[in-house]
Amino acid sequence: MELKDLKVEYQENPLGLDIKKPRFSWKLVSKEKDILQTAYRILVIKDGESVWDSGEKDCSSSVLIEYNGQELEPCTLYQVQVEVWDNKGHKAIASGSFETGLLKGTNFCADWITHDYPADETACPVFTKEFKVEKEISKVRMYATALGVYEIKLNGEKVGETYFAPGWTNYYKRLQYQTYQADGILPGENKLEITVGNGWYKGIFGFTCTPNHYGNRVAVLAEVHITYCDGSTEIIKTDDNWMVTTGIIRSSEIYMGETIDTCYKEENLSRVVLTTFGKERIVGQESEAVRITKRLPAKELIITPKGEKVIDFHQNLTGFVELKVTGKPGQKITIRHAEVLDKDGNFYPDTLRQAISIDQFICNGEEQTFLPHFTFHGFRYIAIEGLEEISLESFTACVLHTQMEETGTFISSNPLVNQLQSNILWSQRGNFLDIPTDCPQRDERLGWTGDAQVFAGTAAYNMNVASFFSKWLHDLASEQTEEFGVPHVVPNILGNQDGAAAWSDAAVIIPWVMYETYGDVRILEEQFESMKGWINYITARCETNGLWQTGFQYGDWLGLDKEEGSTERTGATDKYLVANAYYAYSTNIVRKTAEVLNKLEDVQKYDQLYQKIKRAINEEYITAAGRMVSETQTGCVLALHFDLAEEKYRKRILKSLETNITNHKNHLTTGFVGTPYLCHTLSENNLHDLAGALFLKEDYPSWLYAVKKGATTIWERWNSILPNGDFDTSGMNSLNHYAYGSIGEWMYRKLAGINQLEPGYKKILIKPEFIKGIHSVEATFNSMYGVIKSAWTCKDKKIKVDVEIPANTTALLYLPEKEKPLELGSGSYQFEYETETNLERDRFTMDSTLKEIFDEPVAIQILNQYAPEMMNHPMIEFAYQLSISEILATAPGETETLFKMVIDALNRTEILI
Ligand code: BGC
Repeated sequence: MELKDLKVEYQENPLGLDIKKPRFSWKLVSKEKDILQTAYRILVIKDGESVWDSGEKDCSSSVLIEYNGQELEPCTLYQVQVEVWDNKGHKAIASGSFETGLLKGTNFCADWITHDYPADETACPVFTKEFKVEKEISKVRMYATALGVYEIKLNGEKVGETYFAPGWTNYYKRLQYQTYQADGILPGENKLEITVGNGWYKGIFGFTCTPNHYGNRVAVLAEVHITYCDGSTEIIKTDDNWMVTTGIIRSSEIYMGETIDTCYKEENLSRVVLTTFGKERIVGQESEAVRITKRLPAKELIITPKGEKVIDFHQNLTGFVELKVTGKPGQKITIRHAEVLDKDGNFYPDTLRQAISIDQFICNGEEQTFLPHFTFHGFRYIAIEGLEEISLESFTACVLHTQMEETGTFISSNPLVNQLQSNILWSQRGNFLDIPTDCPQRDERLGWTGDAQVFAGTAAYNMNVASFFSKWLHDLASEQTEEFGVPHVVPNILGNQDGAAAWSDAAVIIPWVMYETYGDVRILEEQFESMKGWINYITARCETNGLWQTGFQYGDWLGLDKEEGSTERTGATDKYLVANAYYAYSTNIVRKTAEVLNKLEDVQKYDQLYQKIKRAINEEYITAAGRMVSETQTGCVLALHFDLAEEKYRKRILKSLETNITNHKNHLTTGFVGTPYLCHTLSENNLHDLAGALFLKEDYPSWLYAVKKGATTIWERWNSILPNGDFDTSGMNSLNHYAYGSIGEWMYRKLAGINQLEPGYKKILIKPEFIKGIHSVEATFNSMYGVIKSAWTCKDKKIKVDVEIPANTTALLYLPEKEKPLELGSGSYQFEYETETNLERDRFTMDSTLKEIFDEPVAIQILNQYAPEMMNHPMIEFAYQLSISEILATAPGETETLFKMVIDALNRTEILI
């Protein structure tokens, strides 16, 4: 047995940790089966002296064990040693370290510095300091933050790999600082330069594209702590001895792009101006930093019909483009960004709305590498101006996001589903840039709470999002008020608005998802007041019937079932049904949280409230005969999945749901609220086959429709691109919006069957469930205990299952088509047995709609050849949603032979994405 991945607060050997009681986690790894930890001992050492010895604890916990020693000191390195014993008599040791940060913002001894440039100066200020080092250095740490976004250079080299520091928080109450190792200090003269961009603090942001959301002047606070070999120390800090100038970044805005002029020489060096900004709100970086996580080569040069020179990276992504070029002095190269080309193949930046996203690089005649600093874009294509010859090798797309560990993989036998998984992952990458955003490209990029709420479950399979969400939840709580509840966006730059269901419920649901995924009780402790606060906010607004039926709601946002011609975006489901469904659901989570935290009074209080809301919902929204008031897919899904409907009504509601789906020829009509739960509800109520049929639909509206339209990320709308290649023109059409990617959780839970029976996966449930059209799935999830794997194939009359259970956990495995579950200890297990089940499915049948058939080029080719009169029939569009069998009921006999031929040809054609 070995110990691996010793983590302190989810990080390996963290620097600048500002947590008073950090938590330790480790993984036991062994080739033997049935390994369980029986005891551990944690030793924390400072300068060779123990500051905490947990002693040998007979305990199986190996996740998030809290430090319980002497009070930690700032800027101090602590060594950690963990010893573990298992049930097979083995012992293993792991060691690591953590270094505290300043621990308190008020421990910053530096002064805030700014400049006094006129308000219309767009260039980024560069704060500089020259200093001399005369002794040999043993250690350097740099602590820095800014109002704006900053980049530090030491002797011309970027310090650290972080972008967009200090990150976006509720600056009125919380501002993060970062800690750097800063190894580049030389004997003799040194130069520090800190450039500050407007970022979220001062930059143009929000729908209105207005500046100065938090302040109208950027500033910086930094200090370098040098420890010399002789034991003496020195601090170089921002103060009134620093100088400021403007540099080559002549302008930079997150939405608008950056202009870098390398011919620009600034002569004017002026003294900085001191300023103030409450240090008590400064906290150490709480999540992983934003970094360049991937670099994608340019794939294709396209000259569009309009003559634009366009590069295609074959992937919609968030970041910016690096350009290597030797231009003439003064030559200006312009890079514009877009997610998509229009149907004629021209550059189409309209999905960005007012965020013009233009980077401009002005060359100095040398060989140069240009890379923006304080802007990011959502794009797959760039259009280039100012460069005669374009060579693809000169352009690299740099992918930027919070650098979280990727924890999930999902591959199946269906290439369209695999592309869907890739799209989900890319939308997560693209939208987890310091905060969870709705989209990364247009004049929005805001921390919409609803989007984050519906996607959190999926996100937690794909990546370790514990620190990312706990940082954001701290901001959420800091923005929450009794008067307005939980804001719709966090950080909130939209001003005070009353809380809304499903959006504000992020306050309750996300901490619970984190607890279930990571076994993290601290998130619940920290957020408990905020969780209760949201429920109490609703309760205070309820009518005498105990229900919340007033005020603004988003309803089932972007649901397709709205009335014909309606411009409402809230779907057809009664908005207050949605609101009360969430009210009940979240109240129940608060009750469960109180149980975990052992707050007995709250358990009772929220239990009673929960029962009361459920009763009121049944009275108001379900008839005595068991029909939902909103008999929409989302309405039925909420009643069933949130367990709101009384037992006696469930059957009828399920039937309504089934009928609704079959009436839509197995298509969904759900928006943000219903979509995450739709397939779950079907799978959990004996309609898994229907969930499968719906999931594998390839025509509009469906997940795979976008995939077949060439999407490489998840779209905001089911019809962001219409079947004829036109775009949705509502002015709200992002092609990188993860909300509908929330199906990912169902893929992991039901198709792969990976679930937690106990928080943090201490006890695992593996229960894969087949659907027709997929004959193999292989998925892994790297839990806090280690990798869980579930892989199966069902082919040629054989079922094979391959499962891995990490050490120090146990599992319940339901083998497909076997009655009794197996109790498993850790280890790898393979099973193989006979079956009569055949999961092969013809993609096209007589039940396919005419539209599905018409979406296939092969079909169009055959039909054009054999039935041109049908193809040109003026009424043909009206038959699009009819199934082929329905059409054949009224069509002449030879049509049947023709469609049989088409369907046969399609089923033989390989799936092309
Ligand atoms: C965002 C959404 C968000 C919604 C709420 C949109 O503009 O992009 O994803 O949740 O507004 O109204």
